[in-house]
Amino acid sequence: MLDDSGAQAVPHIWSEIERRTAELGFDKPSDMRTGALLKALAASKPHGRLLELGTGTGLATACLLAGMDSASLLVTVDIDAQVQAVARELLGSDSRISFELADGREFIRTQQHQSFDLVFADAWAGKYDGLDDALALVRHGGFFIGDDMLPQANWQEHHQEHAEKLVTYLEGLQGWTTMTLSWGSGFVVSVRL
Ligand SMILES: C[S@@+](CC[C@H](N)C(=O)[O-])C[C@H]1O[C@@H](n2cnc3c(N)ncnc32)[C@H](O)[C@@H]1O
Repeated sequence: MLDDSGAQAVPHIWSEIERRTAELGFDKPSDMRTGALLKALAASKPHGRLLELGTGTGLATACLLAGMDSASLLVTVDIDAQVQAVARELLGSDSRISFELADGREFIRTQQHQSFDLVFADAWAGKYDGLDDALALVRHGGFFIGDDMLPQANWQEHHQEHAEKLVTYLEGLQGWTTMTLSWGSGFVVSVRL
């Protein structure tokens, strides 16, 4: 039987972050499948520079770190100090990570174009607002990854239309190749050619 739960891929720290996430009552955590996918994609970018928009409590962050080699660097951005504090506490001793407490929309606007090998967009900012600015940060051969493309319990009315519009937009982009994954929370993965 193929176990595609992602449980084999996530790092040991996952359960502690999960415990702290529940304690905090943070209700938008990434799941293990997201973690497994991100870990594999991060591993494909040795010496990579990676960006996560929406640290949350650090579940996906931990998986990105687990996939990265020792020369790779991860910048992770969140606007909420309280949730990001969990990630800072549990993952902050890793010298490859830097935390930004900032509005992701502003952050991406100020970054150098084509300076990241992977952008994981897990906040409204950079996915539904400022998408072109987020895409501009991706290097040739680099990934733009959007999750939660399948209906989620916490979606507001009409969110499905936003998700479908995002996928259609990415699929039509010149200079990119895009695929979707109807698995886990649902993903769109675009690669700059
Ligand atoms: C879906 S959660 C991220 C989950 C996280 N990746 C994980 O592994 O559990 C979305 C996060 O985006 C953050 N966020 C919302 N608006 C933001 C903004 N404008 N800029 C940066 N972060 C934002 C929220 O505080 C929240 O932590």
